[in-house]
Amino acid sequence: MDLKQHIRGIPDFPKPGILFYDISTLLRNADAWQVAVGRMAHAVSKAQPDILAGVESRGFLMAAPLASKLGCGFVMLRKPGKLPGNTVSYRYDLEYGSDSLHIQEDAIKPGQKVVVVDDLLATGGTLAAAVELLRAVGADVTAAAVIIEIMALQGRRKLDVPVSALVTYE
Ligand code: PRP
Ligand code: MG
Repeated sequence: MDLKQHIRGIPDFPKPGILFYDISTLLRNADAWQVAVGRMAHAVSKAQPDILAGVESRGFLMAAPLASKLGCGFVMLRKPGKLPGNTVSYRYDLEYGSDSLHIQEDAIKPGQKVVVVDDLLATGGTLAAAVELLRAVGADVTAAAVIIEIMALQGRRKLDVPVSALVTYE
């Protein structure tokens, strides 16, 4: 199955000049979604994770079913102000301004193997921040996985772990 046929590019969203790759159409097609989760499970299982970490919010959509399928735990990397208890954060730069990701400080047991999952790799700022945050709480980050990679932005250069992508766009 060609998963690209289930992903739409919507021009000028969220602002002029940006082509938004919309996975809504992939999610709503039962067969395509099952194939996507299965293919990512195959790719991620090679890294032998104990835990999958999903990046809020679209990363959660893939990371949670994948963790269930692989028999791993699932940990949330969240945007500010969402997680209860003691948290650790990592701030990262965006095109305009900055944002931060947060994790509960006891989310990972020391040395647990973690694979970080998101829907899309663009500039790589989000996944690079996720990797640093996970390391700050003691994770052994063994890989990253995304549904879509935008090759022209060379985001994987920011990452020092292997990245697998189900589909790529120039
Ligand atoms: C999008 C996407 C990735 C990130 C990729 O998330 O879901 O997480 O941007 O971009 P980067 O590689 O340039 O960092 P966004 O923060 O827009 O929102 P959402 O996941 O909450 O929808
Ligand atoms: Mg996101």
